[in-house]
Amino acid sequence: MLCMSGAAPGAGAGRPGSLLLLLWLSIRLCSASSGRFPWAEHYGTKSRYEGLRAEPLPGTSWLAPANCTALQLNALVRHGTRYPTRKNVPRMREVHQLIKAQGDPGNSLVQALAGWHMWYNERMDGNLHPLGTAEMVRLAKRLAAQFPTLFTARCYRESRLKFVTSSKHRCVNSTRSFIQGVASHLNLRDQAGGQWEVNDRLLRFFDHCQKFINRVENNDTALHQVELFKRGPEMERVMRNMGKKLGISPEALTTNMVEATFYLCTYEFILKGIVSPWCDVFEKEDVEVLEYLGDLKQYWKRSYGYKINGLSSYKLFQDLFHYMDQTIEESERNQSISHTAVIRFGHAETLLPVLTLMGYFKDKYPLLANNFEAQKGRKFRSGWISPFAANLVLVLYRCNEARGLGEKYKLQLFLNEKPLPFAHSGNLVTDYEEVKYSYEHLTESLKFNNVCEFATREDLISLEHDEL
Ligand SMILES: *[C@@H]1O[C@H](CO)[C@@H](O)[C@H](O)[C@H]1NC(C)=O
Ligand SMILES: *[C@@H]1O[C@H](CO)[C@@H](O)[C@H](O)[C@H]1NC(C)=O
Ligand SMILES: *[C@@H]1O[C@H](CO)[C@@H](O)[C@H](O)[C@H]1NC(C)=O
Ligand SMILES: *[C@@H]1O[C@H](CO)[C@@H](O)[C@H](O)[C@H]1NC(C)=O
Repeated sequence: MLCMSGAAPGAGAGRPGSLLLLLWLSIRLCSASSGRFPWAEHYGTKSRYEGLRAEPLPGTSWLAPANCTALQLNALVRHGTRYPTRKNVPRMREVHQLIKAQGDPGNSLVQALAGWHMWYNERMDGNLHPLGTAEMVRLAKRLAAQFPTLFTARCYRESRLKFVTSSKHRCVNSTRSFIQGVASHLNLRDQAGGQWEVNDRLLRFFDHCQKFINRVENNDTALHQVELFKRGPEMERVMRNMGKKLGISPEALTTNMVEATFYLCTYEFILKGIVSPWCDVFEKEDVEVLEYLGDLKQYWKRSYGYKINGLSSYKLFQDLFHYMDQTIEESERNQSISHTAVIRFGHAETLLPVLTLMGYFKDKYPLLANNFEAQKGRKFRSGWISPFAANLVLVLYRCNEARGLGEKYKLQLFLNEKPLPFAHSGNLVTDYEEVKYSYEHLTESLKFNNVCEFATREDLISLEHDEL
């Protein structure tokens, strides 16, 4: 078959995960070629990682700066592909039942949806899917292959590869799978040395930052723009279209149901590799509106909408620099490096605030309920920034032939395995001291303050000023 040719480069057969991926990729190619591509670039935080991953630009991928050797890798990884969460399953069931009860029985789409088997249940509870397990194994193998001097058997056995995770099952299981990937890359049989720590204060800081909880999480008006958009003309059009396609009055539909329908289209595609009839409920424009709704939520709850969203991650941000400072000290004292890699596992809600704090994906204008059209070319696309298995990687190098201490240590950033230029300079490699200096306000002045408590000091007040 034409569609099978050239599918799934690098997907080793033999494991159910890879077979699924193979199937998924070939279906994806088929559907793309037959014009039935189900808009997978608009799935927001429910996007698949590997299907969307563009090939790195030639010459930029992981290229170490000249005369430099990698000293340490710091990473922040979102868990792999998961099942739907407990919150969304009842909404999926609800919309399925509504269509069965009220949809036009003569309509072929309604018939297809009524005959669809509801296989999602609450017990799935956002757990890691086998595809997510396989993603983590492959990510670990790619990183270990890319940095052979950091991921050595000796470092592994001496626990110099450090793993820290959020307590959620999907993160712990992502950690476990990642460790398996490293061990398998190193041909190690034993899992000893692959221990991990659970640290929710670090990786689920949003549950511990009181100011964030008061100002945003528990604040009924904080997501005002999201509420406005839900009632706005774009969402109204989506609901009208959906009602028309199903022969249901748009008044019977709620935003939650529309979102649940979109999730059903998304999950059937990412988990099973099929373009289900759920996707036929929408047109491309509808999907763009639903993607915007998701991005709007992320923007106001996890990103630039409120200053505290980014700031709430400051301890995690400082943790990255803490390990790099320690490594430089050890290197200067000619000591062996205590941790050649520190890999942290969390959530989209962990990664987005950190990238926000670092100044990434900030559009000139805020995302608002009334600028959907104007924001079509926005930088803030959560599917691009934080799909399942998203990862931010910082690589610290020690360089020879440097003129001074300031130039001896260099840093490189990667987001989803693609080079990420530094926010302050646009360069792909920068002196470590320069990066630290550019973030001095975050690494130094916040060291002795807790921005999550209500602040008193003036410089903190200026830091927190809610600008858009
Ligand atoms: C790398 O080191 C060599 C000598 O060891 C030197 O000639 C060359 O200029 C250095 N390259 C850079 C980019 O510093
Ligand atoms: C986590 O992985 C273990 C074994 O690897 C499996 O038994 C368990 O069901 C998984 N748990 C979740 C919540 O995915
Ligand atoms: C809730 O959010 C609104 C809108 O941003 C803000 O004006 C208000 O002060 C917030 N309430 C609290 C308790 O922070
Ligand atoms: C580290 O080693 C270098 C070269 O071997 C030496 O010049 C330097 O003095 C040593 N530094 C310390 C702190 O021992």
